[in-house]
Amino acid sequence: MYRITLLATSLTLVACQSPAPLDSSTGADSLESTSSTDGYGSAGYDDPYFPLLGNGGYDVEHYRIVLDVDVATNHIEGFATIDAVADEDLSRFNLDLSGLEVSGIRVNGESASFWREGQELVIVPAMTLSANTPFQTTVTYSGMPEVVPLPGLPIPGIGWMHERELIITMSEPTGAMNWYPCNNHQLDKATHEFEITVASDYVVAANGILNSVQTRGDKQRYHFVASDPMATYLSTVNIGRFDVEELVGPNELPLTFYFPPATKEEIREGFRRTPEMITTLSEWFGPYPFECYGGVVAGAGPPAALETQTLPVYGGKSPGIGVQIHELTHQWFGNSVSFESWRDLWLAEAFASYAQWLWTEKTGDEGSIVETVERYYGYLSEAEHELMGDPGVEHLFGLGVYVRGPVALHALRLEIGDEAFFGTLKAWTSTFKNSAAGAKDFIALAEQHSDRDLAEFFEAWLYSSELPAIPAMNLPAPKAEEPEG
Ligand code: TRP
Ligand code: ZN
Repeated sequence: MYRITLLATSLTLVACQSPAPLDSSTGADSLESTSSTDGYGSAGYDDPYFPLLGNGGYDVEHYRIVLDVDVATNHIEGFATIDAVADEDLSRFNLDLSGLEVSGIRVNGESASFWREGQELVIVPAMTLSANTPFQTTVTYSGMPEVVPLPGLPIPGIGWMHERELIITMSEPTGAMNWYPCNNHQLDKATHEFEITVASDYVVAANGILNSVQTRGDKQRYHFVASDPMATYLSTVNIGRFDVEELVGPNELPLTFYFPPATKEEIREGFRRTPEMITTLSEWFGPYPFECYGGVVAGAGPPAALETQTLPVYGGKSPGIGVQIHELTHQWFGNSVSFESWRDLWLAEAFASYAQWLWTEKTGDEGSIVETVERYYGYLSEAEHELMGDPGVEHLFGLGVYVRGPVALHALRLEIGDEAFFGTLKAWTSTFKNSAAGAKDFIALAEQHSDRDLAEFFEAWLYSSELPAIPAMNLPAPKAEEPEG
């Protein structure tokens, strides 16, 4: 059994909360995750933190997820079509799926045998699949999704979540497998489409573009197409009673926001600043990477937001501008450019958090960025935290990533200057658009743009526990205080 223990967390909305010891397991059985030569696709990608996430032997190109949803009971009837290409001859392969009942699987139209081992759905096609050849798998399934536990997050679990008359889906890092069978790792991104049928008094909000809404009796079927390749943890389907507000962003970018009717006007006003935010962030990071954008205000659920692709979901209380900047920044950092292993999560969170400071620097909303960095640096110098570049699964969403991360980026900016710093950021988002990259790739780009050897700099910030000095700012600051999220 693969056990994880999380001790502390600092999500965007819940920064620097006190440690809450928790202990639970991912529910995964002890399957081998190494690749094999027997025509069996491996059960995982050997991610250092989640070895069973994803599966070897094939690459998914497209998911079509058809769901009939009873919102009151949270029961789903599902039919998933998964188009993939085998990268070796495959006599058997895995998908990731947690809970739910599987009633039938076909591969290339032929009935396949299958069994479950923890989160692994093992599939044996009638005929061996040939290397470099496309194949199609369909999975018929049903049940009530149960959240996947991830201790250390201030929420009961992740994935498809149900709360009375509301369904929201927030899956980072492992939750997507609680509502569809998938290759559950960002190293295998794919396009998605969703066909969701619900009672007509609900509205469905999912990633991508709404292609059609068809009425069938007292139900409606919403068809969303997400044409940008997407990691499974970034897929989202939300069902509730929403007001829908459409806006047009820079370069005619379609923007769609979903608000519960009770949402205050000032919150809606905040979201109407999105075009301005996209314009500003595009100046810092390069062109906005996707076909559309928007957001779902849940008005309930966990007090955290997730950067679900093209459509962040804002749980809990009223989302302010800071968290909107954070989730918008993730579209470049983390979504378009994925971190290649969960150890490299800082490649998403450090930037999303730093962008919040850049925004206040630009708007002058919260004093100078120097004060902000000083405050957080002072806090860090007192607060125990994990390595930014290897926080461990227990502290994945902790201070090392969320607080030391943005401080380190500011240190880098001081070290190499604004031109090299923003040049590096733009090169990063264009070079690795719609793919994945790791810490080494980022360091290489920063070295190239600054014409400097930055090995020591990054070693100190990412992989040493001691907090490096930021000489140019004459830090550390004299006293530590609790920063606000
Ligand atoms: N990535 C989110 C953020 O910082 C935090 C997060 C991780 C989260 N996993 C989650 C939020 C699951 C809600 C649910 O923006
Ligand atoms: Zn984030």
